[in-house]
Amino acid sequence: MSRDPFTRTYAPRRKSYSPGAARPAVSRPATARPAADTPPPADLLVPYMVREEPYYRQVTDEVDLYEAAYSVRMPMMLKGPTGCGKTRFVEYMAWRLGKPLITVACNEDMTASDLVGRFLLDASGTRWQDGPLAVAARHGAICYLDEVVEARQDTTVVIHPLTDARRALPLEKKGEVIEAHPDFQIVISYNPGYQSLMKDLKQSTKQRFGALDFNYPEHDVEAEIVAHETGVDIETAKNLVHIGERARNLKGHGLDEGLSTRMLIYAGSLIAKGVSPLAACRVALVRPITDDPDMRDALDSAVTTYF
Ligand SMILES: Nc1ncnc2c1ncn2[C@@H]1O[C@H](COP(=O)(O)OP(=O)(O)OP(=O)(O)O)[C@@H](O)[C@H]1O
Ligand SMILES: [Mg+2]
Repeated sequence: MSRDPFTRTYAPRRKSYSPGAARPAVSRPATARPAADTPPPADLLVPYMVREEPYYRQVTDEVDLYEAAYSVRMPMMLKGPTGCGKTRFVEYMAWRLGKPLITVACNEDMTASDLVGRFLLDASGTRWQDGPLAVAARHGAICYLDEVVEARQDTTVVIHPLTDARRALPLEKKGEVIEAHPDFQIVISYNPGYQSLMKDLKQSTKQRFGALDFNYPEHDVEAEIVAHETGVDIETAKNLVHIGERARNLKGHGLDEGLSTRMLIYAGSLIAKGVSPLAACRVALVRPITDDPDMRDALDSAVTTYF
């Protein structure tokens, strides 16, 4: 998992701005990636730049399609099961386009203010603090709302004026309307299998987005990814993918969800560290995904077929 920093943190480029004394405080909600220092406004987005090329193995024509969508600033929806590469893809595309990426992990407690901003009390009185969506819209970043379906619908509707011809974000409490920066784009991720009737996107939200389908890649491509990400040899990676495919066939027949590429990478990482393949698969693949003894035995025997 040597590449993991891409999925978690982007260290700010500290050298690209010079620290000054009188600098407005910029703080971000816990869901946004924090800066290690408080940059001046012009460099507000520097911490959100993807500095190194993330490893992304293109699966079909998703890179070209996304570039075309970005060129017309079409809001995009990345659809697909957990752990199949959606987040890695958006990180790669932000790097490729040279645009900052602000990621917000959505949850049901998130309010519209968490996205757009709020007034804060400090020693000098009240001051407005832009939320991550407002920062992205004002200064021109790609704003990635991860698992947007987790947010309540009354929260999700704040993105509506930004995702139609208006490209504007009204800050009602502040009495300001932000005209979106030309570089601004909104991207959401969404797992079509998870939502219930209560937790789905409204049609009026869905119909504001173009959508790209993601899924677990075909055998050889997935093995290539697993080998690259973990350092195991390609034969071991292929065996892991075989086990993943067996488990995916059990989805709906006792398993709620198939084994993700992410889980195969976990197993490969343990094997690369010297853990025996059987133990690695037990820990990283079989035990996390099921509590049912029969299903566990079925998966364990799939593991012994390949290792
Ligand atoms: N096409 C790919 N190229 C490179 N790495 C990939 C690819 N697909 C998956 N991966 C690997 O799988 C891991 C999991 O992918 P990622 O975190 O992007 O999943 P996700 O679809 O965003 O899942 P979730 O819905 O749970 O957030 C990545 O960290 C990466 O190592
Ligand atoms: Mg993700």
